[in-house]
Amino acid sequence: MSFADRAAGYLERVEQALDARLPAEGTRPATLHAAMRYSVLGGGKRVRPLLCYAAGETLGVAADRLDDAACAVECVHAFSLVHDDLPAMDDDALRRGKPSTHKAFGVATAILAGDALHTRAFEILAGDGVHAAAERLGMIAILASATGSLGMTGGQAVDLESEGRQLAVDDLEALDRDKTGRLIRAAVLMPCCAVPGLPGATRDALDRFAANMGLAFQIKDDVLDVEGDQALTGKTQGADAVRGKATYPSLMGLDHARQRADALYADALAALEPFGGAAEPLRWLARYIVHRDR
Ligand code: IPE
Ligand code: IPE
Ligand code: MG
Ligand code: MG
Ligand code: MG
Repeated sequence: MSFADRAAGYLERVEQALDARLPAEGTRPATLHAAMRYSVLGGGKRVRPLLCYAAGETLGVAADRLDDAACAVECVHAFSLVHDDLPAMDDDALRRGKPSTHKAFGVATAILAGDALHTRAFEILAGDGVHAAAERLGMIAILASATGSLGMTGGQAVDLESEGRQLAVDDLEALDRDKTGRLIRAAVLMPCCAVPGLPGATRDALDRFAANMGLAFQIKDDVLDVEGDQALTGKTQGADAVRGKATYPSLMGLDHARQRADALYADALAALEPFGGAAEPLRWLARYIVHRDR
């Protein structure tokens, strides 16, 4: 049985785990909790939780020991999307085919829902009843540094500063590695904390895999922004182009962007060679990331 056959089970698993870790519908303040649940549940490809479970399979860590890490990284991701869509940032009215959180609940509630999802992620990791304190602390440190000003948040800041500017390719890649790559890396690295005494070389190989796929993920996102818009409207300008976003396709063209994603994918696969068949789940997800159509 390949990871493809297990992915649906993991998707169901993470949906239930997220539902159970968010305050129930109707809990006061009800509007805030409704906005949090709206932003997290019932949508999203769940790539980061899947990466977490897949890395767990590769390392021999059972899924029930990774539910908290999977939910925590998805809560941070959901918070980042809620804020990313705000009028002061990308000003996007749609997310996952539905009105974005600020369109459904108002800007103030969306800001607060993002804040609360951010802290809930760390509360989940801190309160996890499965791992030893040192293992939990390791996961918290990984997710916190991936989220902060030297990680996703910093990348988002540079993304906004770069609107309307022509970046050097290296600067664009650094931006993308921070805003998107860091959470992808955290998803793969948190399970390493659940294996006491894991050799540094094993962790480094997984990190090399994740760093390559993190950048490939954002390049593919940028390519889909162009392709999606062409398919829907027949126009050649996607939402990123309208906002003057610094993206791989805008800088180098679509073909070059696709080639760069393929090269990163190849290097990601090379990093998995030492794992042999044990890395099949990660190989499957990597292929999904570069071949996905949404
Ligand atoms: C979109 O992420 C934002 C980026 C970091 C590129 P996803 O493509 O993972 O979004 P969902 O969670 O599946 O909606
Ligand atoms: C978002 O990148 C990255 C984060 C939210 C950290 P984008 O702005 O390209 O994501 P989409 O295209 O709105 O999903
Ligand atoms: Mg953005
Ligand atoms: Mg955006
Ligand atoms: Mg995008």
